[in-house]
Formats: sequence, structure tokens, C-alpha cells
Amino acid sequence: MEMARNITVAVLASGSGTNLEAILLEIERGVLPVVVVAVISDNPDAYALERARKRDIDTRVVDRKDYPNRGAFDSAILEAVRESGAELVVLAGYMKLIGDDMVEAFRGRIMNIHPALLPCFPGEQGVLDALDYGVKVSGVTVHFVDEGLDTGPIIVQRAVPVEEGDDVESLHARIHQAEYVAYPEAINLFAQGRLWLDGRKVRVLPPGGAQT
Ligand code: GRF
Repeated sequence: MEMARNITVAVLASGSGTNLEAILLEIERGVLPVVVVAVISDNPDAYALERARKRDIDTRVVDRKDYPNRGAFDSAILEAVRESGAELVVLAGYMKLIGDDMVEAFRGRIMNIHPALLPCFPGEQGVLDALDYGVKVSGVTVHFVDEGLDTGPIIVQRAVPVEEGDDVESLHARIHQAEYVAYPEAINLFAQGRLWLDGRKVRVLPPGGAQT
């Protein structure tokens, strides 16, 4: 009998990696059928690397400073991902844009998580921008990566109400909690083969449902 095979995932992270931790915890609980084969960072000091080392997951640092230009750095990231053999690339607080060659090579196979309800408040300061705008509801978006900044097809969104007196820290803390649910959910849908790209829309097939 053929055994079900877990999808292989490379996680790219530049910072603390609490989303990575949440994903690893779900894998360890046995509810997320994927295996993280590499954690790749552009930041040698990223705590995400430490979280991976503690679990004997392969780590790789690709530091922009070691490359003469952006193109060479982008190629090194793509090479690191290819060498990992990952089928899915998960950006978890990765603070660099993905090069066009990698977007092309992995279209529909790179996910990002953003701390706002896209298409509102893209970019590095999504939480602050939402607060400054005065929205009453913000949230989390998991999307496939395309050539733009936070513009790719949306997979999962979760709303997070803004509370009176919120600052960036308090709102981001609640958004983080929503991220720890939304990201494993999106990865799980991918692992089950239930995501289908239909132009810029992501269709979610029913459990066990086949694409027609
Ligand atoms: C998250 O809020 C994510 O939405 C954004 O960067 C943050 C990363 O946090 N892209 P962490 O490193 O996973 O703790």
C-alpha cells in the first residue's frame, strides 16, 4: 500500500520566528502533514535559526552583505531553496522581496503572511498603518507570492478587531495569535492539495475534493 507522503517545506525568516514556532508545534502535534526541511535566513542573528537548530532542522544563512548585488543575492536564495528540495516555500517574517526568478520557478508554491487585511495596508508597517488609518477591524492575510509587494492571490484571512486604546504592540500581539492559527490552516490546505489557483483567486476545494 502506498503511504501518504508529507509535503516538504522551506521556511524563510528574518527575525524572531514565532510563526515558524507555531507551525513546528502543529507538526509536532501531528495535525499538520508537512516536514520542514530547511530554515533559511538573510539575518545571521535571526532567532528563527535557533528555533530550527534546537530541532535539528537544517539552517542556512544567505546574508545580503556577502553578495555584490541584489541579483546575486536573489540567485543564492533560490539556490538554497532548490537545494533543500522543498515543494512549498513559507515566508515567516522574511523581510526581503522574493526575486522574480524564484516567483516564476515556484509560482503558487510560495506563501507569505501579512499582519493586515490585504489589499489594505501592504508593506512593512501594516499594523501601524491600519492603526493610523483608524480602522476598527484589521487582521491577518496568508497569500501566495507574486511579483508585487503583498499583492498575490489570497488564501486565508482572519479578522482581528481593533480595541480602544490599542497601540502597535497590543494590536500586533493579538494579530500574532490569529497568525498562529491562519498560517498552519493555509499550509494544511496546500498539503491536502485543496488549493487551486484560478487567475488571481484561490479556490478552496472540499476535503478529499478533486480539481475538475
Ligand atoms: C508577522 O507579524 C508576520 O505577519 C510579518 O512579520 C511578523 C513575523 O513575526 N510578516 P515572527 O518572526 O513570526 O514572530
